[in-house]
Amino acid sequence: MQSKRGRLDRYVSVKANIPRKSVRDLLLSGRVRVDGEIVKDMDRQVDEFSHIQLDDQILQANTPVYVMLHKPVGVVSATKDNQHKTVIELLACEHRHGLHIAGRLDLNSSGLLLLTNDSRWSEALMSPTQKVDKVYRVTLTNPLTHEYITAFADGMYFGFEEITTQPAKLVILDPHVAEVTLKEGKYHQIKRMFGRFRNPVMGLHRLSIGDIVLDEQLQPGESRTLTAAEIASIKI
Ligand code: URA
Repeated sequence: MQSKRGRLDRYVSVKANIPRKSVRDLLLSGRVRVDGEIVKDMDRQVDEFSHIQLDDQILQANTPVYVMLHKPVGVVSATKDNQHKTVIELLACEHRHGLHIAGRLDLNSSGLLLLTNDSRWSEALMSPTQKVDKVYRVTLTNPLTHEYITAFADGMYFGFEEITTQPAKLVILDPHVAEVTLKEGKYHQIKRMFGRFRNPVMGLHRLSIGDIVLDEQLQPGESRTLTAAEIASIKI
């Protein structure tokens, strides 16, 4: 999801369907307000949450929304799907429109899924430079050995994307269960990493993203809005 920060004259032009040249005159005559204040500077940067008004007409008034969902197995991380129920359909009605997913989970994975309408926040969360830890509990078909710990820490080369995975932490919790911490999220990354050992993943559950931990009170399919501290834990 692209960040929607941009120039005020462009926003007014698009939202009010007025040519950019005419917007300049509107601005200079003091007819445009941003967050309640008259703004005459067309270079002024605004985003999708700036309150923008032309005379008495509200051109934009969005509120940022941040939701955590306990994604159940069998529900697809998408906004639309012809075959499966989507995570959006699990949300309360007032949250169903305009949210996007910040870091998908596979159809047969479960756990913490974050959704928002704030593209700057989700970009920061998923940015490779921010290296936000994502912690997963993984259940395997075959027993784990200490070789896995070293292989995950060293990184694995994926020829398809021509990348080596960043060092990942693997802790063996019991012979068939590991806790894996990734700083990135490549396509089917965990399944592919265990695939190197020909060890199929039986269950994959995301426990946390950075300081945001899946709320134990949430049953699969339930969601809640994030607290101010959880939102602020992702640095924009
Ligand atoms: N890695 C996977 O293979 N699947 C997920 O859903 C998340 C991480």
